Amino acid sequence: MKTEILKAVPESLDKAAWYLKNGEIVAIPTETVYGLAGNGLSASSVKKIFEAKGRPADNPLILHIADIGSLYEYAENVPELALKLAEKFWAGSLTMIMKKKDTVPLETSGGLDTVAFRMPNNIWTLQLIKKCGFPLAAPSANLSGLPSPTCAEHVFRDMNEKIPLIIDGGQCKCGLESTVITFIDNGVKILRPGAVTPEMLSEFCEVTVDKSVTEGLSDKCKAASPGMKYKHYSPKAEVYLIECDSKDKFVDFVNENSDDNTYILSDFTEKIKAHILPYGETPNKEATELFSSLRKADDMGAKKIYVKAPSKKGIGLAVYNRLIRAAAFKVIKL
Ligand code: TXA
Ligand code: MG
Repeated sequence: MKTEILKAVPESLDKAAWYLKNGEIVAIPTETVYGLAGNGLSASSVKKIFEAKGRPADNPLILHIADIGSLYEYAENVPELALKLAEKFWAGSLTMIMKKKDTVPLETSGGLDTVAFRMPNNIWTLQLIKKCGFPLAAPSANLSGLPSPTCAEHVFRDMNEKIPLIIDGGQCKCGLESTVITFIDNGVKILRPGAVTPEMLSEFCEVTVDKSVTEGLSDKCKAASPGMKYKHYSPKAEVYLIECDSKDKFVDFVNENSDDNTYILSDFTEKIKAHILPYGETPNKEATELFSSLRKADDMGAKKIYVKAPSKKGIGLAVYNRLIRAAAFKVIKL
C-alpha cells in the first residue's frame, strides 16, 4: 500500500473521511502529537490500528470527539467535574477516563470497562471528526515503543506502506501527548502528565499524581494506565538522564564520558565537547523538541544520549516522565 501525504485542506479531509468511513485508518494532526485514527466504534477498524503500530491489545485507545455533548453517547455517569474541566481545557491536551457505555467496543478500551476521551485542539481534525460522524480512536502514530511523531515526516517513517494516508497539519505545537486523568473521590489522579499541568488542574479540584509518572512500576504493581507499563518513547540509542544541581557538573560528566557516538540534548553549548542536539531554553520548548531530537539522534547514528533532568514543575513533569521512560529508568545522580 502506497502511503500518501496530503496537506490539511478541505479536499484531503474528504479523502480521509472516505477512508475512515470505509474502515481504513489514517494519520491525523493534533496539537500534541500525530494520531493514527480509525472509527472508534468499529472493532475491525480499531484492530487495524493495533496491527499497524504493533501495539499490545490490552493498551486502550483514546476516543477523539468534536463536542462535549458526545460524552453522553459513549460514557456512563459523566462526572460534574469532567464537564467543568472540559469547558476549561477543551479543545486541548486533556484526556479524561470515564466509565464506558456499550456503544464503545471492548477492542477500543483494551478490554476495560472505562474509556478515555479527548477533544483535540486542531481545526482540521475537529472538522474531520464532524465529517465522519463517529469518534476517532487514535493512539500516537508511531510504531509501538518509539518516540511519538510531531510532524508528518516522522509518521511516514513509521507507517509507510501500512496506511493509505497521512494528513499533514505541520509541526505539532505542544510536542508531548495529552495529560491523562481519571476521577477519584474528591478530585482527579494524573496517570500521564502533559501540557495541562497539575498546577492548572488544582485550581478546580484536588490533584494527585500517580506514582508511575516518575517511578518505574514493579512487576507486581498493576498499572492504572496500561500504557505506563511498557518501555516507551525510546530511540535506538541508550538514553541516560543526568540528575545534578549545576551546569558545571553536567558539563564535566559529559566531557569525561562521551565518545564520537555520544549526543547531548542541551540548551547550552559552552564547554561541551560532544555532539549537541537542539533542545530546550524553556520548559515549553523542551516539550516541543524532545521527541524530534530523540529521532534526530538516531538518524545521526547516536549510540548514547545524555540529557540533564528537567525540573518536575509545570510542563517539566511531562518532559521528565517521557525522558525517564526513554531512558528505561537509567538515571545517573551526580
Ligand atoms: O495527545 C494524545 O493523547 C495523543 C493524540 C493522538 O491525541 N494520543 C495518545 O494516545 O497519546 P496513546 O494511545 O499513545 O496514549 C494513550 C494513553 C496510554 O498510556 C493508555 O494506556 C492510556 O492513555 N489510556 C487510554 N485509555 C485508558 C483507560 N480507559 N484507562 C487507563 N488508561 C487509558
Ligand atoms: Mg503513544
